[in-house]
Amino acid sequence: MAHTLPPLPYDYNALEPYISEQIMKLHHTKHHQTYVNALNAAEAAYAKASTPKERIALQAALRFNGGGHINHSLFWKNLAPSAAEQKGHGGALRDGPLKQAIVQAFGSVENMQKQFNTTTAAIQGSGWGWLGYNPTTRTLEIATTPNQDPLLTHVPIIGVDIWEHAFYLQYLNVKADYLTAIWNVINFQEAEQRFVEASRSSNL
Ligand SMILES: [Fe+2]
Repeated sequence: MAHTLPPLPYDYNALEPYISEQIMKLHHTKHHQTYVNALNAAEAAYAKASTPKERIALQAALRFNGGGHINHSLFWKNLAPSAAEQKGHGGALRDGPLKQAIVQAFGSVENMQKQFNTTTAAIQGSGWGWLGYNPTTRTLEIATTPNQDPLLTHVPIIGVDIWEHAFYLQYLNVKADYLTAIWNVINFQEAEQRFVEASRSSNL
């Protein structure tokens, strides 16, 4: 079964002024589509591979493009049009289990965002910043992954693409401004749903 590009749950210009229409269009239709195509090609080649050596040679392509597809599929859902712009609920974190867990782990929502941005800005090269749920300690933690590696140590609650293709056309080299802006379009409702599911399943 071939992988396909999932549609965005909002228009390409819906995250403006925080993420431009141009970035969203290119990011979704070009970058994500390329990961999907390359993942399908790698899986097809893997299915035809007849020796361990051939299969091993495909591991890097599977990891990179599979991770790219997983991460971007999550990223689109993890964003929403901004409440500050009266376009949606992006950036609005209501009182509830996620907010409580953030305050418990970081002292305040602002501290979490500060720690997230500092840790994530320090990624060398390309990667992803995460607010993740650690199923062992049952707390929220900040994590990063290099390249297109998906988050495997934690359940991803919020993921932010730190590749230059995610911000350069609008924010140029100022990654910190992109990280400050993106909190205005974070879909905290989606994040809360993921958190509730993650904390419920770890109670089993
Ligand atoms: Fe990306």
